[in-house]
Amino acid sequence: MRTYYLEGVISFLNSESQNAASDVPESLRKLKSLLESLQYNRKCVDNPEELWNTWNGTSDLKIFENEFVRVSSSNAFIRKRIKPKKQHEIDHIVELISQIQKYMEMKEDPIDSLVDIGAGVGHLSRIISLRNKLPVMAVEGNQEFTLAANSLDEKLVHTSAKQQKNDSRLEKLPVRYTTFVTDQLATKIDDFSTKSSILVGLHCCGDFSSTVLNIFLSSRKAKALVLLGCCYHKEFQCFHFLNPTPVNKEVSENLKSSVFPLSRKWSGFELSYLHRELACHSNENMSRRFSEDKIDMSRYARAYLEKWIWIVSESPDDRNIGMCSVKCVEEETTFEEYIRKAMSKRGKHLLDRVLEIIPKTELSRYVSTLRSSQFDKFDVLRQSFGPAIESVIIDDRLELLRENGITAKCVPLFDPTISSRNLAIVAYKV
Ligand SMILES: C[S@@+](CC[C@H](N)C(=O)[O-])C[C@H]1O[C@@H](n2cnc3c(N)ncnc32)[C@H](O)[C@@H]1O
Repeated sequence: MRTYYLEGVISFLNSESQNAASDVPESLRKLKSLLESLQYNRKCVDNPEELWNTWNGTSDLKIFENEFVRVSSSNAFIRKRIKPKKQHEIDHIVELISQIQKYMEMKEDPIDSLVDIGAGVGHLSRIISLRNKLPVMAVEGNQEFTLAANSLDEKLVHTSAKQQKNDSRLEKLPVRYTTFVTDQLATKIDDFSTKSSILVGLHCCGDFSSTVLNIFLSSRKAKALVLLGCCYHKEFQCFHFLNPTPVNKEVSENLKSSVFPLSRKWSGFELSYLHRELACHSNENMSRRFSEDKIDMSRYARAYLEKWIWIVSESPDDRNIGMCSVKCVEEETTFEEYIRKAMSKRGKHLLDRVLEIIPKTELSRYVSTLRSSQFDKFDVLRQSFGPAIESVIIDDRLELLRENGITAKCVPLFDPTISSRNLAIVAYKV
């Protein structure tokens, strides 16, 4: 690794074959193959048939399109304000929902409604209403997002009526609520659904995913679940600002992690904040993250500052304190400016001591000069563990469902180079 180029290591880590680069050190080869054996397959399902086979385990249905239908990009009105990444996600989820609808019909328990939890500005729920022809309830904690979603719904209704296009006619608007979601949502779902509902959570951050799992377990009428997590490090109601009765900080600090573990299988194991943060990085986009124009210089300053913090700190709690993020400009932001901004909140009590001990010549250096290839190499190695840690978190969620008698699968639903949190939990109670 010492002499091996960073780009070479990144491309080796992303290659499908172990033989891709003959000059890679043996230790790195072994590490790659070990990590791969620990992680869920991240290669996106190629087409609707492969999707069906992956979540449902059967290959008996032969009624699929050859490709995913581009629902969200097919029509300019529908596409309005939807970014390409979201379009890709929506196209694949819409197909998955129709497959679950078909499957549940075959099992004589047809789906009659869908609940989108943490619906954001509502693109997914709007398109599902349109294409899957289901009554949709969309729940979101941020009122501004609900208002924006309502306004986009109305615009679509208005324009499609003028155009008289059947494929873009929204027959029934999603019912949208602004509420801070807790386990109590299960009762609301049971009131909304006639008999069987699908729950969808697209990128429910941190322990919001744990809440969605609890809701699915306790709702009588929730029969299927499609859940994708993100930001695994965020917990104890990371969206507390949306909550009218937030959890007291002291109480939350004494609580067990609400992200991991949830299942009996993983009980007794721990993943720290840093591990869970690492689980949000994936190898597919690593070369972009390390490329010159995308490089986040504050990472080097943060690492360099940590060395000084270790010297002045008396308590282990002072090491690795969460710092404010700082936007660093090349040949403009000095190390001192970075330190003052980064430590302005949680590191405040150490600020003076750190500034005293660091030589003036160091403090006046531009942050951009702190970039170090040794740091980059270490970081690439560290980040290569991300997908294996994410797989543990997902496995824990799957096991929680299985331990409750529910069929649950991990499906690589999105192309990871487009949407890196691409592993969906697909579960159903039949
Ligand atoms: C990462 S965003 C995903 C939004 C949307 N599903 C999408 O993919 O575009 C997560 C959303 O969940 C909402 N959220 C998080 N925790 C929540 C809670 N406990 N109750 C309600 N909404 C919450 C946030 O406001 C945010 O809009």
